Amino acid sequence: MGKLKKAIIPAAGLGTRFLPITKAIPKPMLSVLDKPTIQYIAEELTSVGIEEIIVVVSPDSGVIEKHFGECESLEQRLLSDKKHSLYEIAKATHQFNVKFVVQEQPNGLAGALLCAEPFVKDEPFALLLGDELLVADNGVKPCIKNLAEIYEKTSKSVIATMEVFGDEVSKYGNIGFDVEDGGIMQVNAILEKPSVNEALSNNAIIGRYVLSGEVMGMLKKLKPKGNEIYLTDVLDELAKSGKLLASVIEDDRYDVGDKFGYIKANVEMALKSKEIGQETKEYIKELAKRI
Ligand code: G1P
Repeated sequence: MGKLKKAIIPAAGLGTRFLPITKAIPKPMLSVLDKPTIQYIAEELTSVGIEEIIVVVSPDSGVIEKHFGECESLEQRLLSDKKHSLYEIAKATHQFNVKFVVQEQPNGLAGALLCAEPFVKDEPFALLLGDELLVADNGVKPCIKNLAEIYEKTSKSVIATMEVFGDEVSKYGNIGFDVEDGGIMQVNAILEKPSVNEALSNNAIIGRYVLSGEVMGMLKKLKPKGNEIYLTDVLDELAKSGKLLASVIEDDRYDVGDKFGYIKANVEMALKSKEIGQETKEYIKELAKRI
């Protein structure tokens, strides 16, 4: 059974829901407080000792590579100005072992995964979708760490899930499961974005996965539906052969792919900030009296 060493972050989406900002700035570079969302995602991986992160980018998203690269002139300047904490912040952006691969066609999530295949081959990998930020505060075990531990114990692919209600169920992949043991669910079927009536349960798939080494090979064999192949089809195949587990997230989750979710993430990160937390709190209290 392989140890989890690699992670894939798909970052080539067009980000049309955030136009016009995403015309020139890739969506993963949108900032929550002072940090691009993709850096939060990379930081989640430090809890599992991942050795290599593969970021799948679109052809003109060089700014993501720049963010994870070194900027010697800036760092030298911060050092000579004795701005040590800012120097540490700048330096931290190039401490990740990141490889980039270009997705030429915006052909979906499975297309992005296949672009990363030469780096992963038949090894297990973590998959983290950038539209969701997960924050594990107050002693909560980070979701990705929990998934990695379940994978390493069972050798089965494992996905993160949360309960949703009403027509929210139609926004996500949906799981059917029969047994639940110690917080681990045995998944028996998957439906992508079902109607409320079709849904198998109230459990939605969240954008964190640890997938076993066979998944890339299964993706390669899939028949396209229209022009696309779907990760959900592989997950369903795994589920039907008893090889897919799920676990409920305990982290705080922000849907930063949605405008309101993005604002919530910014407000809550501002409240948690040492630098501006107090004044943000006072401002919000004051504002609440006026609205
Ligand atoms: C993708 C997956 C879906 C999952 C969701 C989580 O959908 O296809 O199964 O529930 O991510 O964010 P997308 O949001 O790309 O439409």
